[in-house]
Amino acid sequence: MDYRFCGASGLQLPLISLGMWHNFGDNDSYSVMKDIVWTAFDKGVTHFDLANNYGPLPGSAETNFGRILSEGLNTHRDEIIVSSKAGHLMWDGPYGDGGSRKYLMASINQSLKRTGLEYFDIFYSHRYCPDTPLEETVQALIDIVKQGKALYIGLSKYPVDKAEEACRMMREQHVRCLIYQDRYNMLSRKPEEAHIDFLERERLGFIAFSPLAQGLLTNRYLNGIPQDSRAIKSGVFLHREDITPELIQKLTELNGLAAERGQSLAQMSLSWLLAKKTVTSVIAGASSAAQMDDSLKAIDNISFSDEELKRIDSILAD
Ligand SMILES: NC(=O)c1ccc[n+]([C@@H]2O[C@H](COP(=O)([O-])OP(=O)(O)OC[C@H]3O[C@@H](n4cnc5c(N)ncnc54)[C@H](OP(=O)(O)O)[C@@H]3O)[C@@H](O)[C@H]2O)c1
Repeated sequence: MDYRFCGASGLQLPLISLGMWHNFGDNDSYSVMKDIVWTAFDKGVTHFDLANNYGPLPGSAETNFGRILSEGLNTHRDEIIVSSKAGHLMWDGPYGDGGSRKYLMASINQSLKRTGLEYFDIFYSHRYCPDTPLEETVQALIDIVKQGKALYIGLSKYPVDKAEEACRMMREQHVRCLIYQDRYNMLSRKPEEAHIDFLERERLGFIAFSPLAQGLLTNRYLNGIPQDSRAIKSGVFLHREDITPELIQKLTELNGLAAERGQSLAQMSLSWLLAKKTVTSVIAGASSAAQMDDSLKAIDNISFSDEELKRIDSILAD
């Protein structure tokens, strides 16, 4: 595994991190998730990405990861980076969602309890909350760091102007924002238009979530929709009706190019992101250790010729 410095910080992240949004909940096999984590860690994946609401049930991914830690991974605590987040709906009533100090403080305490950790390495505001003064959210994040409950602060999915304002507020209190997290993959390219200047100006790390477009940018859907795929099992964020013949045609062409490069489509999709110098790490999900293993081979070839990049753009053009 190779590691990259996260923006202007001294913290390095592995090129590929493991995300636990799906496949780590109460309905998933504990032995499979444990296998995924150890397969990743054994190959140098030192960064594990959680959030308070990952499950289902919300919170269960943290509980399951806590169990994996307690069954051995914790002996490597100083070799790993664990992140969590709060910002989306987590519990009923006015204090279980958004960006208030009340929610963030309560949530990190709950997340620490579920995982059994003494601190998170990175704690994110999971989304910008338009109903909370930004100062309040930022102050809560700063205080979380000052209380030793997290080492670094991250922001996720913030509009660029709000992220920039938040970074300025942190700087004024001599705390730097470490990292910005957003969706980025070959099918979803908003960060290219909106974020690059901001990231360079603030010297932030950038970590791409859903780098495989939830499984679309893999071989999963090339020959129909498998019963054990996310589109069938969950279907909340990835809808079967979005998997159109036009999309499959493009994915098939991308798969052909990946094969020419000696890669699986998943590997090429991750490599395509890692070829960009703004990307510190990608947070890949996996529903099996075999998938994790396959994805990790992406790092063997992260360079693209101009012609390959042009072909990708033209396949995805409209
Ligand atoms: N900040 C945020 O708001 C936010 C939002 C979303 C995600 N995230 C983070 O990003 C992480 C990753 O997101 P994601 O789960 O959507 O990631 P993804 O990497 O885009 O998709 C993962 C899915 O792709 C399929 N897959 C993975 N590797 C494969 C391989 N080698 N071959 C074939 N199929 C493969 C699996 O689908 P099947 O399950 O169908 O097998 C897997 O569940 C999350 O766990 C979370 O940590 C953050």
